[in-house]
Amino acid sequence: MANPRRIVIENQRLSPLINLLKKPLAFPLLLGFFVFLTWISLRLQHSSHFSSSSHTKSAVKSSNSDLEIHDGDDEANLIRFGLVSISPVRKDDRGWLLDPVILARDSLLKGGAGSCLSIHVGEIRPGGLRGNHRHHTCNETFVIWGAKTKFRLENNKVEKGYAEVVIGENEVAVAVSPSGTAHALVNVDPVRSTFFIGCQDSNTPNNSSTSDYKIWKDLQKV
Ligand SMILES: *[C@@H]1O[C@H](CO)[C@@H](O)[C@H](O)[C@H]1NC(C)=O
Ligand SMILES: *[C@@H]1O[C@H](CO)[C@@H](O)[C@H](O)[C@H]1NC(C)=O
Ligand SMILES: *[C@@H]1O[C@H](CO)[C@@H](O)[C@H](O)[C@H]1NC(C)=O
Repeated sequence: MANPRRIVIENQRLSPLINLLKKPLAFPLLLGFFVFLTWISLRLQHSSHFSSSSHTKSAVKSSNSDLEIHDGDDEANLIRFGLVSISPVRKDDRGWLLDPVILARDSLLKGGAGSCLSIHVGEIRPGGLRGNHRHHTCNETFVIWGAKTKFRLENNKVEKGYAEVVIGENEVAVAVSPSGTAHALVNVDPVRSTFFIGCQDSNTPNNSSTSDYKIWKDLQKV
């Protein structure tokens, strides 16, 4: 049987809280508390997402069995998908669809744009060149498709100082260029246009004080 004296004592102990909740101040306080709870749960979700995506690249490769792997793709920070067969970016006959930021992050390409604060969408006609520059204030994630395209990325672990791969006309590639690394896209297709999206995680204008231009002399001829 409950001791009535104890109930009274507990009510007295709780009464400052109850009184507080009756005041007009209670609503913003409660709201603040729920915002805090939401924040905590989002943080937990975020960190569990990160730990679940911290599997190795080879694990991603084996789960994405249709992911095409070419020599040098690792050094060029690039992953590619065939568009003719069903693949992780082309799940049915409608064609392909991807989120470059999430795809790059989940495949563990290092140093891509964390978000698309600034976006460039463009075409490169046969023989044309874009990039050949180095941004110091943003990471950039590219999606490249449509034609045979050379992608070059500065990489000091490679003897030449850069890694270079050719993306096929029937492939779509996602590549990342971390802040401070140079990149270039060259259309080496005889007839088709290359299309690309460059997604940058900063909207600082890339001008001569934030970027270096004309990095590789051998590319400038085009
Ligand atoms: C670029 O990525 C690095 C880590 O990979 C991060 O620290 C930095 O905030 C990102 N954004 C910019 C604008 O440098
Ligand atoms: C800024 O960077 C984007 C993406 O790399 C590029 O397409 C654009 O031409 C650059 N702008 C200038 C003024 O260099
Ligand atoms: C480049 O852009 C930055 C940021 O807006 C600006 O402070 C700087 O003066 C610009 N530099 C040149 C050379 O235009």
